[in-house]
Amino acid sequence: MSQQSGIGIAFIGSGSTVPEVALDNQALSQIVETSDEWITSRTGIRQRYLSGADGSLRAIATQAAQNALEMSGVPAAELDLIILATSTSDDLFGTASQIQSDLGAVKAVAFDLTAACSGFVFGMVTAAQFIRAGTYQNVLLIGADILSRWVDWTDRRTCVLFGDGAGAVVMQACEGASDRLLGFEIRSDGSQNDCLTLAYQAEPRALINGVTVGQGTYQPIAMNGQEVYRFAIKRVPEVIEKALHRAHRTTDQVDWLLLHQANQRILDAVAQRLGIPNEKVISNMANYGNTSAASIPLALDEAVRQGRVQAGDVIAASGFGAGLTWGAAIFQWGKSAP
Ligand code: UT7
Repeated sequence: MSQQSGIGIAFIGSGSTVPEVALDNQALSQIVETSDEWITSRTGIRQRYLSGADGSLRAIATQAAQNALEMSGVPAAELDLIILATSTSDDLFGTASQIQSDLGAVKAVAFDLTAACSGFVFGMVTAAQFIRAGTYQNVLLIGADILSRWVDWTDRRTCVLFGDGAGAVVMQACEGASDRLLGFEIRSDGSQNDCLTLAYQAEPRALINGVTVGQGTYQPIAMNGQEVYRFAIKRVPEVIEKALHRAHRTTDQVDWLLLHQANQRILDAVAQRLGIPNEKVISNMANYGNTSAASIPLALDEAVRQGRVQAGDVIAASGFGAGLTWGAAIFQWGKSAP
C-alpha cells in the first residue's frame, strides 16, 4: 500500500487536551458500589477527566486542533479538510463546521465521522484517500468525545471506564518516496452491534390520524464487557498483522504499539499475542480512562511531547469498539525521512 511514486502522507503535528475536572476512583466509589482496587486491577484506570455541564465538544476539539496546528506549522487558513471523529457531537448535524469556523480554517471543508472508538483510525484512512487522490494537501484529523454525557452513572460496569478528551493530528501530502502511512486495514461486523450501544429509542407521537412519528432520545451506553473484551483480544492482533503485512513490516520492526486505551489488560494481551515487549506499548489510560475516539491521538500526542516517539519511529495503531468496528494503521511519525 505504501507508494514509492505518486503522493505520500506525512504526520507533521499532534495536539490534545482534556477538561479540567478529574474524578479519581476513590471519588467514583462514592457514586457507585466500586473500589479503587477493583477498577485498577481490572482496567488499569486510576482517574478520568470530565467535561462539566457547560463543557462542549467544540471547545475541547478546537483546543486540541490548535495545539496540533501549532506543532505542524500549518496555518489554519491553509487547511483543506477537517475530519472530526466523534460519537458525541454537540449537534447531531455535526460539530466539525463549528470547529472550522473557530479555527479560521476558511477554505477547509469539515465533517463529522462516527465509528466509536475506531473513529480515529477510520478517520486517518479516510483522510489518506483524499490526500493520495491528490484532492487535498493539508488535513486536520481530530478524535474527540464527551462520553460522560451518555454514561449511565448508576451502572458500575460501565461508568468506571470512560473519560472525556480530545486529540488531533495534522496530515500533509508529501513525495511518494517519503510516504509515512505504510499500511492499514479497517473492519466492521454489525452482527455484534448489540455488544456496545448508545442507541436512540423512539417515543411514538401521533401527529394526525394514521401518522405517527418517533420522537425520543438516546439511551445511556450499554455494554457486554466480556464479549467486547473477547472481540478485542482476538480481532486487534489479527488486524494489526494484516496492516503490517500490507506495510511489508514485521512485528519486531514496530517501535510503538498504540492501541485504543480501553483496558490495560487488553493492551497486555494484544502485546503478548504479537510478541511486542511492554516497553514498546504506549499506555496512558491510568490518567484518562477510555476517551473513545480521542484515546489514540491523546496518547500519541503525550508520547510525542515527552520525546518518547521520535521522527521516523514506526507506530502500529489500532482502534476497536462499538459497531462493532476495528482497524489498524501502520505509520511513521514526523516530517522528514529517517
Ligand atoms: O471502548 C470500547 C471498548 N470497551 C472495552 O474494551 C471493554 C472491554 N471489557 C472490559 O474491559 C472488561 O470486561 C470490564 C473491565 C468491563 C469488566 O471486567 P471483567 O473482568 O470482565 O468483569 P466482569 O464483567 O466479569 O465482572 C466481574 C465481577 C462481577 O461480579 P460477580 O457477578 O462476579 O459477583 C461484576 O458485577 O465484578 C463486578 N463488577 C464490579 N465490581 C466492582 C463489575 N463492575 C464493577 C465495578 N466495581 N466497577
